[in-house]
Amino acid sequence: MNPADLPERAQYILMMFGMDADWRDPNEERSHVSGLQHALLCGTKALRHYPEDSEMIVAALLHDVARPMSDIFHGEVIAYILKDRVRPAIFEALMIHGELQDQMLKNGGKLGPGYHRLTAEATCLAAWDYTSFDPEGDMAPITEFLPHIAKVFSD
Ligand SMILES: [Fe+2]
Ligand SMILES: [Fe+2]
Repeated sequence: MNPADLPERAQYILMMFGMDADWRDPNEERSHVSGLQHALLCGTKALRHYPEDSEMIVAALLHDVARPMSDIFHGEVIAYILKDRVRPAIFEALMIHGELQDQMLKNGGKLGPGYHRLTAEATCLAAWDYTSFDPEGDMAPITEFLPHIAKVFSD
């Protein structure tokens, strides 16, 4: 699929995604991958685990796309961009993913006892996010995501 064939909204999202390509968080100790690599690593985990779940794949791919705009509220920004296009559990997973990452960083990759009632979507996104910092990891090309982006952003 050619990106030019995507719906207009999807093309705009890809443009936002491109803006993030070389961005690295200066406060992120594990930033030996770029924002784009982290996104592709995380999105690829969704692709491999749930190849039919376009909503989850796009959410995993784009979960940090707003980070250069707002570190504190980047989860809320992408959650609301996708709100009408993903199921409520994914909206919620995006909303809280930053908090879950903070917890996992503090607890050696585990969530604390206060997080035992999370949905599968929130648990998966948190785990994929936490483990998507290996530049040698499984990283699908953006072209593999285009049909899912087209599906989620088609009106
Ligand atoms: Fe994030
Ligand atoms: Fe992330």
